[in-house]
Amino acid sequence: MSTRSIPEALIHEIRERIDIVDIVSSYLPLKRSGANHQGLCPFHSEKTPSFNVNSSRQIFHCFGCGEGGNVYSFLMKIEGLSFPDAVRRLAEKVGLTVPDEAMSPAEEKRREETELLLRINGAAAEFYHQLLLEGDEGKVARRYLRQRGYDAESVRQFQLGFAPERWEALARHLQEKGFPVEAVRDRLGLTRAGKEGRGDYDLFRGRLMIPIYDVRGGVVALGGRVLDDSLPKYINSPESPVYHKGRVLYGLHTAREAMRRLGCGIVVEGYFDQMALHRNGFPHAVATCGTALTPDHARLLKRYTDRLLLLFDQDKAGRQAALRAMEVMLPEGLSVAVVELTDGDDPDSFLVRHGAEAMAKRLEAAKPVIEYYMDLTLEQCGDGVEAQARAAEAIADKLRLLKSDIERDLYLRTLSARTGIDAALLGRRTAVAVAQSETPPPAPRLPVPTPRPAVRPPASGKLERAQKTMLRMFLEGQIAATELASDDLEALFPDSGWRRIAVAALALAAEERPLVDGLQERLEPDDLALLAALLMEAHEALLDEPERLLVDCRQVLLKHHAEARRRQLPELIRAAAAAGDTGAEAELLQELQQLLKKKL
Ligand code: CTP
Ligand code: MN
Repeated sequence: MSTRSIPEALIHEIRERIDIVDIVSSYLPLKRSGANHQGLCPFHSEKTPSFNVNSSRQIFHCFGCGEGGNVYSFLMKIEGLSFPDAVRRLAEKVGLTVPDEAMSPAEEKRREETELLLRINGAAAEFYHQLLLEGDEGKVARRYLRQRGYDAESVRQFQLGFAPERWEALARHLQEKGFPVEAVRDRLGLTRAGKEGRGDYDLFRGRLMIPIYDVRGGVVALGGRVLDDSLPKYINSPESPVYHKGRVLYGLHTAREAMRRLGCGIVVEGYFDQMALHRNGFPHAVATCGTALTPDHARLLKRYTDRLLLLFDQDKAGRQAALRAMEVMLPEGLSVAVVELTDGDDPDSFLVRHGAEAMAKRLEAAKPVIEYYMDLTLEQCGDGVEAQARAAEAIADKLRLLKSDIERDLYLRTLSARTGIDAALLGRRTAVAVAQSETPPPAPRLPVPTPRPAVRPPASGKLERAQKTMLRMFLEGQIAATELASDDLEALFPDSGWRRIAVAALALAAEERPLVDGLQERLEPDDLALLAALLMEAHEALLDEPERLLVDCRQVLLKHHAEARRRQLPELIRAAAAAGDTGAEAELLQELQQLLKKKL
């Protein structure tokens, strides 16, 4: 796997030379508090700090949202990087190089191509930008922009450009720069093949050009707007290896920091809306690029904020887009509100007509999206009893999208008050919708039972504590590896996460390597977050005698294991009998008898 192809020793060495406190501090202010440094968590919004960085262990953990890990996890999460890229980024900082052989040849090729495509797009954006800034050809575009209130500074800020009314302006320019025509034409679609031996011709002609960046500021695509009323109004780069419009948000590379700082983001539909907001002091706005919001967009936004304002065009299409966005964003656990403007406006025209202060007021007055949906649905359904009932049903169904049952309950009461329909009745409807949306995975075909399938209910409370205590004692060197190694790990660690950590730690112990440190190189991000949580929590064994505590933990876990197995066995025996596997049946029966005997 690519994430593990960089040598462990190098990953370790880079980490050794970096202080996680420095790295985190460059993103948010930290204050020392006891053994840790604390700050406001950048991964969820909060008013009192529950985000902890531990300098001696070089890990972080948020007691509020559960995010955690080491310096690489932090960088991956906050910058949206892959693991190898996070390693590279930090390697650069400390003057080490990650050898490229660490990548597979296929990965290497993909990376090279991505770099080339971004360079080509970047060169195209710069070419168009210069043509807009100077020269006669760009005059029309400069006039157009001036009318919309854009001066040279804004043109630079957004790297706006102008594609002249010529057939081969960009094609020639890129060729002169030595870029391969296949990449320009076939991979990026910036040019198209001419007919009958003629050269490739430009996709964008006579348009105002808007570069579209990824989170790291690479130009992944370009959008081109006509300078008059002709159609199509916009042409965009086609999808390419570097551009998937369902995964890109215009302006995110500059907006993300502001989103974090302000604890909220604004989503608009148009490029000009986004630019207008930025110019008017709303730096936390991003635009979709001519597509509906996708679950990928929602997850991308969630890295930076969990509160979003939908600021869409005030027309039928905009209202529908807001409702579609609701379906996508609520299931991701985002809090979403809809901003309403004067009818017929879009954010850009509203700002031109009413200014920034009026906009700020509208943003403040944003309505939670479910309330917006409720208002819209009840307004539109009219007064008939039947129509009202249908509307209430539709709304009760929609409440399934809410993650919090408290919120759901509040809306049910509101809906009941507004329609006069019994809240309990509406609540049953919502409950059914919730159950239906949680479609269970298709039932597996009944397999011939193996003697030891690892099906177990998730452990909680007491079990969770026992697993964590044992693991922590082991990691702190309070109990020996043999205490764990000699047992059935599935019984001692019913939760797969803790079990994976135990397995990795035992392997490290066998290699006589430091445990906590080694684990950081070996665990996947989710498990690393678990580990960070474990290490940050108060540890009871320090107060107690480890040996006695170990006995208690084991007893709890082994007893639970035996009981779970005993409950599971009758079903397995029936299945074995049904499948005609008499060998397995006998074995399972014997196991059950032994378990029952032990219990007596
Ligand atoms: N769009 C597109 N192709 C079109 C029309 C629109 O890709 N033919 C996308 C663009 O990303 C555009 C967005 O949909 O920014 C919203 O469209 P619209 O509201 O018409 O554009 P604005 O950005 O508001 O542009 P303007 O204010 O200049 O009309
Ligand atoms: Mn507009």
